Amino acid sequence: MVSKLNRSPRQTALVTGGSGGIGLELAKVLARHHFDLVLVARKRDTLEAAAGQLEGKYGITAHVFAADLREPDAPQTIFDFATNETIEINVLVNNAGFGLGGEFVETDVKRELDMIQVNVSALTHLTKLFVPPMVKRQSGRVLNVASTAAFQPGPLMAVYYATKAYVLSFSEALAEELRNTGVTVTALCPGPTATSFAEAAEMTNSRLFKTFGVADAASVSEYGFDAMMRGKRLAIPGIRNKIVAQANRLAPRALSARLARLAQETR
Ligand SMILES: NC(=O)c1ccc[n+]([C@@H]2O[C@H](COP(=O)([O-])OP(=O)(O)OC[C@H]3O[C@@H](n4cnc5c(N)ncnc54)[C@H](OP(=O)(O)O)[C@@H]3O)[C@@H](O)[C@H]2O)c1
Repeated sequence: MVSKLNRSPRQTALVTGGSGGIGLELAKVLARHHFDLVLVARKRDTLEAAAGQLEGKYGITAHVFAADLREPDAPQTIFDFATNETIEINVLVNNAGFGLGGEFVETDVKRELDMIQVNVSALTHLTKLFVPPMVKRQSGRVLNVASTAAFQPGPLMAVYYATKAYVLSFSEALAEELRNTGVTVTALCPGPTATSFAEAAEMTNSRLFKTFGVADAASVSEYGFDAMMRGKRLAIPGIRNKIVAQANRLAPRALSARLARLAQETR
């Protein structure tokens, strides 16, 4: 079924983690293409600054909703906000997420359980809430931000890689379930990208971020937006990332894990 998304005059995209990094760049691309926005993140002042900038530059309406996706009831409060404000969400961008580097036996379990909550549970819950109305309208798009980490086990960042494997698997399965509904699901799998991510994950000194070169968030977002609008199921920005992802699909898992460990190690 052909999505009706492009025919309606005014469309709204909800972007989690829309106040910085890849999420803010995705919000900019969406605004440039005349989408109104709902931006979600924890810090209200950063959200309001981003919303003001986007409204001024692109003439769209940008709502903000401050929520901490580590809280299990946050997705429901976001959904209730949109419902109460009668904002129809046509595009859901599940972008918020974070990582943590280190030996699993030493890392902080609270941060890792929070990571599973944000990267996996909140993404799943938001999709559960916002996709059924899209299916009813026979129109909608979901962009889930995974990572090239989704394609292999990731020693020294074990929980993060596992969360992204979930995001990729979930997105591809849901895309197939929703075939012929007018709703598409795209998994965006960036490689290392210049944002606050590496610092928050304590990974700035890893070979991955120091040696292999990082992409800029604007081009990653442009690529992801384009893939989403074309209804593609998988979007891997950059030729090197595409090759690495495909090689990992063919390589023995133990070899994949060994190579990922080398990339994660401090340089
Ligand atoms: N950068 C990379 O190298 C890279 C590579 C592959 C995939 N990714 C993925 O890309 C996505 C975006 O990451 P990024 O690199 O743009 O990171 P970033 O620069 O650290 O931005 C993270 C965004 O998420 C928000 N956020 C963080 N924790 C949150 C929480 N508990 N509740 C609500 N919002 C929260 C942040 O705002 P507040 O702090 O105000 O909440 C911010 O807007 C993530 O899913 C990440 O895993 C990143």
